[in-house]
Amino acid sequence: MGCMNPYFPNLLSPIQVGSVTLKNRICLAPMNLLERDPNGVFKARDIAFIERLARGGVALITIGESYVGRKNGAAGLALHINDPGAYNGLCDMADAVHRYGAKISIEMSHAGAFSRPEYNSGELPMGPSAYVTPLGVQVTEMNEEQMEEVANEFGDAALTLKNAGFDLVMFHAAHGWLIHQFLSPRTNKRTDKYGGSVENRIRFPIMCLENIRKNVGKAFPIDMRITGDEVIEGGYGIDESKKFIKYLAPYVDMIQCSTGGIYHPDAAARMSPVVFYEKGCNVPFATAIKESINIPVSCVGGINEPLQMEEIIRDNRADLIVMGRGLICEPDLPKKLAVNDIENINRCLRCNECHNRFFAQGWFTCTINPTVGHEIDHVRTDNTPRVAKKVLVAGGGPGGMMAALTAARCGHEVTLCEKETALGGAIRFSDHVDFKIDMAYWRRQIEGKLAKTNINVLLNTSVNHEYVNNFAPDVLIIAVGADPVIPPIPGIDNSKVILGAKMHDRCLEFGKDVIVIGGGMVGCESAVELKNRGCSVTVVEMLPRIANGCGEAQANSIRVGLLGVKTLVNTRCLRVTNKGVRVKTDGHDEILLPADSIVLSTGMSARSKLVEDLQQAHVPETYVIGDSMAARKMGNAIKEGYYTAMNL
Ligand SMILES: Cc1cc2nc3c(=O)[nH]c(=O)nc-3n(C[C@H](O)[C@H](O)[C@H](O)COP(=O)(O)OP(=O)(O)OC[C@H]3O[C@@H](n4cnc5c(N)ncnc54)[C@H](O)[C@@H]3O)c2cc1C
Ligand SMILES: Cc1cc2nc3c(=O)[nH]c(=O)nc-3n(C[C@H](O)[C@H](O)[C@H](O)COP(=O)(O)O)c2cc1C
Ligand code: SF4
Repeated sequence: MGCMNPYFPNLLSPIQVGSVTLKNRICLAPMNLLERDPNGVFKARDIAFIERLARGGVALITIGESYVGRKNGAAGLALHINDPGAYNGLCDMADAVHRYGAKISIEMSHAGAFSRPEYNSGELPMGPSAYVTPLGVQVTEMNEEQMEEVANEFGDAALTLKNAGFDLVMFHAAHGWLIHQFLSPRTNKRTDKYGGSVENRIRFPIMCLENIRKNVGKAFPIDMRITGDEVIEGGYGIDESKKFIKYLAPYVDMIQCSTGGIYHPDAAARMSPVVFYEKGCNVPFATAIKESINIPVSCVGGINEPLQMEEIIRDNRADLIVMGRGLICEPDLPKKLAVNDIENINRCLRCNECHNRFFAQGWFTCTINPTVGHEIDHVRTDNTPRVAKKVLVAGGGPGGMMAALTAARCGHEVTLCEKETALGGAIRFSDHVDFKIDMAYWRRQIEGKLAKTNINVLLNTSVNHEYVNNFAPDVLIIAVGADPVIPPIPGIDNSKVILGAKMHDRCLEFGKDVIVIGGGMVGCESAVELKNRGCSVTVVEMLPRIANGCGEAQANSIRVGLLGVKTLVNTRCLRVTNKGVRVKTDGHDEILLPADSIVLSTGMSARSKLVEDLQQAHVPETYVIGDSMAARKMGNAIKEGYYTAMNL
């Protein structure tokens, strides 16, 4: 038994899970690695990503969805555990994690009705009951032979993992995949002994668990991920899940209680809880389950506050804390907690940019952790500069702050000039918005870090090319951001019109009825904020959907926030008058939307003229980063600031 940690005595205490001892109570949530190696093995990049997390001090790493089915059950690109080609990669992965004293598990999954023919050699998906998916794919009802086959596949996968050096296995019974499909009366419509009562619905899951146990033996721990509450109309609630868990618990050593899943947008928003839910919103489900069984229960979902984590364990609300996004953005969380270095812990923004990887690069990314996904590229580990340079950073937004901090840490002599009275740039708005609390925290945090360096921060200092020439730096980093785009709508200069980017300085001026022109992410979030302030808000968007250009997860988050806000798509603003905004929706007549205030949120555009002026200066090295290169998001600015400075 190790010493008790003085700062987080409960959170950092060990716990026994079956025969395995976990060194603390912090675990990585399963997140799929989107394996793409044609031979089925983990790529070096997968291993580097996981190894980095193990190095940060997490006790248990569970690799995300990995398929057990040999010819069915895949919903996308992921590791196939029963593929003989996967074995060496599994061994390497286990070895990488063990080098740092962490334990490793994997989420054994079968997508069931969510399987996609293109990932299953054209095989149609199968599930507890037949139906045609919204995409027109026929799902077939599983017969007993198919059930036995899948149960065997789970057992075979577990044995493979045990042999490959894994310490535990996870049985994925959550989030809408095959096992969950059997457990839920929403999807299990069978009238035979596998459907209907709780006792019938658990029959197939137990068949799988029996096979797993038979293959791995009594001493090998099995973890089970469940959806504690389906959180949608017609879905099961916590009382029903407690009933089936009572039957399943004797077959497993630990239960991970998640919530919701991918079967419905509302359920997805609760699975990786978005900013509009309170932190730790799903913990009560884990607590309810913990009270009804005698094995460890872990909780997961939107947890990012160290003190809250300690209290959850201390107050016996759960035995372990599982984190996905909180560890993506701060892999060193456990190690930093151990020395109470809270101020240097990145706190997840719950912005779900990391979810976008499914649709974009296909790999992990993070708004505030620029190194995530590039673990394998981080060959340059020391921060010593090749030559110490005199660096001038123009603009103190996220990009400029990150560039200045990183350059200073690399040993350069840095001056950061900001023309406004405070640092923060466009994200200063977050100080006024309660659901942006973690963005505001990030800003204060990086300001605190800057204050601890010898960076010369000059506020109220506007930089132009003459200033730069006088300053004579070796390096100029231009991070001057973007300006709001003002479309040529007649009447747009009406005094009722407030620029979205500036609206937080003018909150007291808002009347009751507000029209937001522009339904992108920023316009929609402004609408949510105004709704929360008691305004009656309408968003007008000329494209066919709001939050266009956002990833699915972010668009889904915005949808949750917008409940109670009227949105008009395919709608053009014709002109602004003293009475409001005249609009025309495709196929309809022009109408007046009465408004007391009008928020203009029609995008941002790089301050190109200023950039061009600054580029006239005589400087050996000049870089343009963030929104001043092209208006995008905070994560782009941070990443460019970081890598520009790292490469000086
Ligand atoms: C209302 C609003 C909400 C947003 N919400 C989100 C969000 O939820 N998530 C997200 O990822 N992104 C969001 N964004 C976008 C995000 O804020 C920007 O992408 C990000 O701030 C860009 O960082 P930056 O450092 O490149 O530029 P900026 O943040 O614009 O910073 C540029 C800085 O340069 C300073 N500056 C300008 N000219 C000079 C000069 N001549 N000399 C010295 N300093 C100068 C400016 O005063 C400013 O402080 C939002 C943007 C707005 C406007
Ligand atoms: C990028 C990403 C990938 C995920 N992949 C999986 C997965 O493969 N299997 C799974 O059960 N959950 C998956 N999840 C959900 C997480 O395991 C976790 O339950 C959820 O994000 C809530 O935890 P958090 O708020 O700490 O991120 C994923 C989440 C993210 C952010
Ligand atoms: S991208 Fe956003 S939600 Fe994802 S880990 Fe980073 S800060 Fe958290």
